[in-house]
Amino acid sequence: MEYKSFISDTIAQLGEEPNKLIPLLQQVQEKYGFIPEETVDIIAQNLNLSANRIYGVMTFYAQFKLKPCGKHLIRVCEGTACHIKGAEGVYESISGKLGIHEGETTADDNFTLERVPCVGCCHSAPIVVVDSDYHGNTSANMAKGILENYK
Ligand code: FES
Repeated sequence: MEYKSFISDTIAQLGEEPNKLIPLLQQVQEKYGFIPEETVDIIAQNLNLSANRIYGVMTFYAQFKLKPCGKHLIRVCEGTACHIKGAEGVYESISGKLGIHEGETTADDNFTLERVPCVGCCHSAPIVVVDSDYHGNTSANMAKGILENYK
């Protein structure tokens, strides 16, 4: 019921044309932290789109999450500059320390780990972004220290 009323209120603001799908999904994610499965059917009915089309859009745009995130989102840049400067080692170090792989969340729901394309700070590669904090010139050895700040 809550999903239904949030979605109809949001559609009332945005409009119900099919091209409002992305802004609507953004608002659902902002509110719930991810796109709950139940909301997809509600959106499909309201915008007169198929659920498959909505899932297609959600999987095409990396910004949309189909599962809830941990308290802290760690994004390891895997763009070219970061890759050349050792991003893979940084990723492996974080992944090993937390015991999770890309797209997974720790059992205590504290961290979700992602690999992302260039985040626009190539001069400080390799970059790790935790929530909205950018950590530059990282190394595999620094990974553990960075995580200590987010317990
Ligand atoms: S490649 Fe990582 S910030 Fe650009």
